[in-house]
Amino acid sequence: METLDQLVQEAEADFAAAVDGAALEQAKARYLGKSGSLTERLKALGKLAPEERREAGAAINRAKDAIERALEARRTALREAALLTQLAAEALDVTLPGRESVTGGLHPVSRTLERIEGLFRSIGFIVADGPEIETDWHNFTALNTPENHPARSMHDTFYLEGHDDVLLRTHTSPVQIRAMQDHVARHAGSEHMPELRLIAPGRVYRVDSDATHSPMFHQVEGLWVGENVSFADLKGVIADFLRKFFETEDLQVRFRPSFFPFTEPSAEIDVAFMSGALEGRWLEIAGCGMVHPNVLRFGGIDPERYTGFAFGMGPDRLTMLRYGVNDLRLFFEGDLRFLSQFR
Ligand code: PHE
Repeated sequence: METLDQLVQEAEADFAAAVDGAALEQAKARYLGKSGSLTERLKALGKLAPEERREAGAAINRAKDAIERALEARRTALREAALLTQLAAEALDVTLPGRESVTGGLHPVSRTLERIEGLFRSIGFIVADGPEIETDWHNFTALNTPENHPARSMHDTFYLEGHDDVLLRTHTSPVQIRAMQDHVARHAGSEHMPELRLIAPGRVYRVDSDATHSPMFHQVEGLWVGENVSFADLKGVIADFLRKFFETEDLQVRFRPSFFPFTEPSAEIDVAFMSGALEGRWLEIAGCGMVHPNVLRFGGIDPERYTGFAFGMGPDRLTMLRYGVNDLRLFFEGDLRFLSQFR
């Protein structure tokens, strides 16, 4: 039979070989468990004569103490090793460069829209809007463009499947109709209808796509209806707006006769800068005119008493001019290398 010393050595070797807590507890059971080898020896004490028993018992207890000490030492060692492994795994390298947190910014076209809204609000315009999915009636008919009118073909757009009277609006002008009807309803029965002054920024759609046309683009509609509103007011408002928008007196504004079914007379608004990269080139930025009597009537307003002007400008184009961007598509590609330049 093994001596107690051998048993202790064997236990120490066993414990040292245990690679984790579970293995160590199993090893412990082999010596100190219910039928562990040391426990068996304690049980056997009873068979000894009383005078031998005392000495043998003391020796077994010493061996038991030694095994328990070895067990505890191994437990501590395993715990420390586990802690070191965890620390190594969770270590932070504080010398690594930090991660930049990127702050977003407004899209350049949104900046332009906010600027336009601010400038028009300052002269008493409200900001209105209307649906992008519009009825044929609001988009065309009520704007004096009946079915089969040739002007409809310039506004080729997207129709909704199964609804040939519902389309993606081709311009923001239908907001004129909606706003006039709302305005009239709000002031029904009162002797004096207040002036209606609004801009309506928003998305519009046409079947068109190249460097300067996108199937989705933006417009800002403008409408001023009241007694004695004239073309002179239109010219003043637009010229003033453009000088403030581009922050320069150094530009010329030209009203070039044109045609729109919903205005009469109608004009295109061109702007030319008198210095800078675009010096002397006329650039078309809006359509405008005096609101056609039929349009006022569709809006519920008496054209004998009230007149108005309207304009529709392209804020995408204005943004390109203001920031010197030469391809419209850049605005809608979502490329951060482009967009972050406007942060
Ligand atoms: N709706 C016209 C267009 O999209 C622009 C416009 C608006 C012209 C208002 C005159 C008056 O081209």
